Amino acid sequence: MKILILNGPNLNLLGLREPEVYGKQTYSDLCNIITSHSTVIGVDVEIRQTNHEGVLVDWIQSARGVFDGIILNPAAYTHTSVALLDAVVAVGVPTVEVHISDVTKREAFRQVSYVRNACVGTVMGHGFAGYLEAMDLLKRTIDS
Ligand code: DQA
Repeated sequence: MKILILNGPNLNLLGLREPEVYGKQTYSDLCNIITSHSTVIGVDVEIRQTNHEGVLVDWIQSARGVFDGIILNPAAYTHTSVALLDAVVAVGVPTVEVHISDVTKREAFRQVSYVRNACVGTVMGHGFAGYLEAMDLLKRTIDS
């Protein structure tokens, strides 16, 4: 099973960026944690990050027929991007939305998630562990 893990803008700055919200661990730490878990549960993962909305759209489109599932933290594009929603709907690859923080307990502008409408699940507020939960959820969904 192949899972594509996509991270949106500013997630490359994990560790530096608002550590009180996102923690002190870096993006590289996140990738290591995900890779270790992928070995434990027996899935192949490819992890990518971009600051550009169109690149995320391209990557989602290219997942069709190549990856069995997508884990997507669209970061700020969560709250603005119909293009990401349309891409996930278009490719039909099961997708789980992840957020490190609990966006429901934050600013009003973070209460909307366009992409959530197309996702098989959402994990939020569990820090980096949320990515691992999303991997487990996606694996269960694809296996069933
Ligand atoms: C985030 C939450 C978003 O609101 C924010 O813009 C991010 C990160 C999270 O992982 O908690 O960049 O997606």
